[in-house]
Amino acid sequence: MSIRYTLSLKTEVIHADWELMCSEISGIRDRKLFIIDEKVLTLYHDRLQPLLLNNNLLVIKASEENKSLEQVTTILSKMAETNLRRNDAVIALGGGIILDLAGLAASLFKRGCKLIFIPTTFLAMIDAAIGGKTAINYNGCKNLIGTFYPASQVIVNRAFVETLSSVDLLNGWAECIKISLLMPNNLYKKILSSDQRIDQDIIRQAIRLKEKLCRNDLYDSKLRRKLNLGHTFAHLLESVSDYQIPHGLAVAIGIGSAAKLSLQMNLIDQTVYEKIVKPLDMFSFPENIREEIKERLKAEGHRLLSADKKKTSQQRVVLFKGFQQTRIMSIKNPQILIDLLLV
Ligand SMILES: NC(=O)c1ccc[n+]([C@@H]2O[C@H](COP(=O)([O-])OP(=O)(O)OC[C@H]3O[C@@H](n4cnc5c(N)ncnc54)[C@H](O)[C@@H]3O)[C@@H](O)[C@H]2O)c1
Repeated sequence: MSIRYTLSLKTEVIHADWELMCSEISGIRDRKLFIIDEKVLTLYHDRLQPLLLNNNLLVIKASEENKSLEQVTTILSKMAETNLRRNDAVIALGGGIILDLAGLAASLFKRGCKLIFIPTTFLAMIDAAIGGKTAINYNGCKNLIGTFYPASQVIVNRAFVETLSSVDLLNGWAECIKISLLMPNNLYKKILSSDQRIDQDIIRQAIRLKEKLCRNDLYDSKLRRKLNLGHTFAHLLESVSDYQIPHGLAVAIGIGSAAKLSLQMNLIDQTVYEKIVKPLDMFSFPENIREEIKERLKAEGHRLLSADKKKTSQQRVVLFKGFQQTRIMSIKNPQILIDLLLV
C-alpha cells in the first residue's frame, strides 16, 4: 500500500513498491543525475536498468573511506560536466554513505539543487534519509564536514531490505530501538512483537519519530541531541576497534551502557532498566567486547573521548530519567564511561 505525507522539514515521504517508485522517478520531467551504490546496482540491475537508461549516472562503492572530499569533488565535477541546473534532480540510491555524500554535493552545487533520496538500507530509511544532515569524513574524523540540507523527496521501497546482510539489518534495528526509547510511542511495542521482521509500519513510525525530534531543531541544538543516545559510547568503540565493531552494534552496546549508568546514578530503577534493554536482548547484538579492544580502551579511551567532536567543556551523555524519557547530562569524570565498557 502506498502512503504519502509531507514532513515539516518540507520532505515528502513516499512509501512505494517497485511500480510506484519507478513511476515517481520516470515522472520527473527535469534531468536526473543518479548517484548509486555499486552493490545496489549489481543486486538490482535488471529492475533499475529502465530507470537509469539515458540518464547520467555515477556509481560509488559504499565505504567509510569513500565518504571523502575526493568523492564529493567527483560528484561535483559530474554535475558541472553535465551542466546540471538547480531544478534538475540529484537522485541518491543507496545506504547512508551514498545519501550523505550525494546530499553534501547537492547542497553545494549552485548553492543547492533538487535532492531525492531512495534509501536502500533499513538504517538509511529510518535515519540517514530523514532530518537533512549530510557529511563526509575528514582528517580521520567521522562526519567532520557537512551541511544541513533536507531532501525534497524520500522514496522508501521496503523491498530493498530483503537483500541486506545480517550486520546491516542489525545496524538498522539498533537505530530503530534507539528511536523507540527516546519518547512515548507505539514503536517500542511494535519492535517487541515484530519477530525481527521489518514491515512498512515499523519504518513509518520510526520516520515519524525521527522527524518529530528534528522538526524544530534542524541545526541540532536542542531536542535533536537526544538522537545521540548510545553514541558517545558507540563512537569510542568504533574508534578503538578501527571500525571493526559496526556502528549499529556499537550503538546497541552504547544504549545498554547508558541504561546501566542511569541505573547506577539512580535516575531509573531496575524495572525501567529491564524495559529499556528488553528489545536489545531480542536481537543478536554482541554482549562482550573482545579483550584486545578492552586493552585499547584502557590505553586510548581518554584521548579519544576528548577528541569527540561533540564534546564541549565537559562530556555530554544522553541518559535515561525514565522509560522513554531521556536527559542530557554532563559527566565530569569521563573514566566512568570507559569503565562501563570494561566490565
Ligand atoms: N545523515 C544522517 O542523518 C545519518 C544518520 C545515520 C547514519 N548516517 C551515516 O550513514 C552511514 C551508514 O549507513 P548504512 O548503514 O546505510 O551503511 P552503508 O551505506 O555503508 O550500507 C551498508 C552496506 O549495505 C550495502 N547495501 C546498501 N543497500 C543494500 C541492499 N538493499 N541490499 C544489500 N546491500 C545493500 C552497501 O553497499 C554497504 O555495503 C554512516 O556513514 C553514517 O555516518 C547518516
